[in-house]
Amino acid sequence: MGIQIFPSILSADFAGLATDVDRVRNADWLHVDVMDNHFVPNLTLGAPVVEALGKATPMPLDCHLMIDDPDRWAPAYVDAGAQAVTFHVEAATAPVRLARELRSMGARAGMALRPATPVEPYADLLPELDMLLVMTVEPGFGGQEFLDVCLPKIRRARELLDKHGGDVWLQVDGGITTETIERCAEAGADAFVAGSAVFGSDDPAAAVDELRKRATAAL
Ligand code: DX5
Ligand code: ZN
Repeated sequence: MGIQIFPSILSADFAGLATDVDRVRNADWLHVDVMDNHFVPNLTLGAPVVEALGKATPMPLDCHLMIDDPDRWAPAYVDAGAQAVTFHVEAATAPVRLARELRSMGARAGMALRPATPVEPYADLLPELDMLLVMTVEPGFGGQEFLDVCLPKIRRARELLDKHGGDVWLQVDGGITTETIERCAEAGADAFVAGSAVFGSDDPAAAVDELRKRATAAL
């Protein structure tokens, strides 16, 4: 896969989601941030909203679960219609079992790392995944400033993924803008989440195009 752009609906209008997501049909996926007020200090939405959103758009849904006990709750998001489900490794009890379960249900399995979580201990798990998410802010809120300190980890993750072969996407999430996306693409990311940079723009579709252009140019 080449460059893919994932607008995060966290920065969209929650009372007008169907309208807002329709404005970014030129993107590849919709990124849906699920927060439980335990794993992160914020609360967003759950499986019923994912199910409703899936009926309102033809775009595939990428659910980013910032929740405790994903071993128990993640499969419900596949049932709700998500084509990709990402859990945080810091919250998972049995990440391999969970990734296999998600895949067996027909979804893409993603695993996320908070900024302070190293990638190296999980090197042998990478073939179990379809996507690795390197957070570039502390999860919980949109509109935060990109953490440059995460760039070396993106590079090391890219090296590990290349070594293991296969086609595991490397996603970055948090503070991705037309200014920071180039650094991430150079470091090896190929899947880019952007919330405020897309839905905070007067023209979300143009923002998606511009992000794609910058990332492609940086490769
Ligand atoms: C933050 C979420 C992000 C958020 C990104 O915890 O995981 O997906 O929407 O928002 P921006 O792009 O505004 O940093
Ligand atoms: Zn996210």
